[in-house]
Amino acid sequence: MPLPRHPGHPDPFTVGDKVLLVDRKGRRYLQTLAEGGAFHFHSGVVHHEDLVGSPEGCTVRSSKGSSLVAVRPTSADWTVKAPRGAQVVYPKDQAMIVQLADVCPGATVVEAGAGSGALTSALLRAVGPAGRVTSFEVREDHATIARRNVEERFGGPPPNWELRVDDVVAGLDGSSADRLVLDLLDPAEVVAAAADALRPGGILLSYTPTVPQVMRVREALSNDERWGMAQTVETLVRGWHVDGLAVRPDHRMVAHTAFLTTARRLVPRP
Ligand SMILES: C[S@@+](CC[C@H](N)C(=O)[O-])C[C@H]1O[C@@H](n2cnc3c(N)ncnc32)[C@H](O)[C@@H]1O
Repeated sequence: MPLPRHPGHPDPFTVGDKVLLVDRKGRRYLQTLAEGGAFHFHSGVVHHEDLVGSPEGCTVRSSKGSSLVAVRPTSADWTVKAPRGAQVVYPKDQAMIVQLADVCPGATVVEAGAGSGALTSALLRAVGPAGRVTSFEVREDHATIARRNVEERFGGPPPNWELRVDDVVAGLDGSSADRLVLDLLDPAEVVAAAADALRPGGILLSYTPTVPQVMRVREALSNDERWGMAQTVETLVRGWHVDGLAVRPDHRMVAHTAFLTTARRLVPRP
């Protein structure tokens, strides 16, 4: 199978490409360009053949005269637009997870649960082709969605990704991962197995929406001398309205998604 092209590549649009169409009001529509394909919406039709061969960033007109800008979707666009079974980790938290867990090119990362594959895709991008991601997902139906989304995102099954339909605690086999990222109901129950699976110096990151989950995971970390340097943060992103002299914070924002707890795997003192 040929290597998928990087989503940010500079070639003109071609059949099979994902294209994000953005109208004047900022509404976004994700399309996969197809031979003879067309996008029907409230402002008419855009024929895919009008996009094929055009450069990214071009403007197309619908049959009713509306203008739409055409660009390739970013990683954040994919996260928001992809079909989901489980609730996804949003871009603001994906970015922080990559930073706080120091998910770097070449790293070996274990993740659970895969859910809809949104965080999986961010981890795969961060580790690059020299790295490796193993994702655990206990539910077959969620695993199917995660696989479909990741393969769609990367243009095929990434060769450095393994999706295991299994409970992460049962499946962790003591192999020495560099990073372990948890987005599941009770990460406290995974802390002991995570210490076995991570190499010394490795980083555990737990994404948890509620305070009791944070308390439980922090308690489990405190009670096991193989962990240290624990910290918990959350990320608030506030959009701004910028229109002439009306420059102010948006009235609405996503005030809460989840808390991010990290800890380092240490070598216990003798
Ligand atoms: C909120 S979703 C994860 C979403 C994912 N991070 C994303 O961005 O698309 C949580 C997932 O964890 C899975 N899960 C829960 N407990 C698990 C376990 N012990 N082992 C593996 N997967 C588990 C659930 O089935 C669910 O699909």
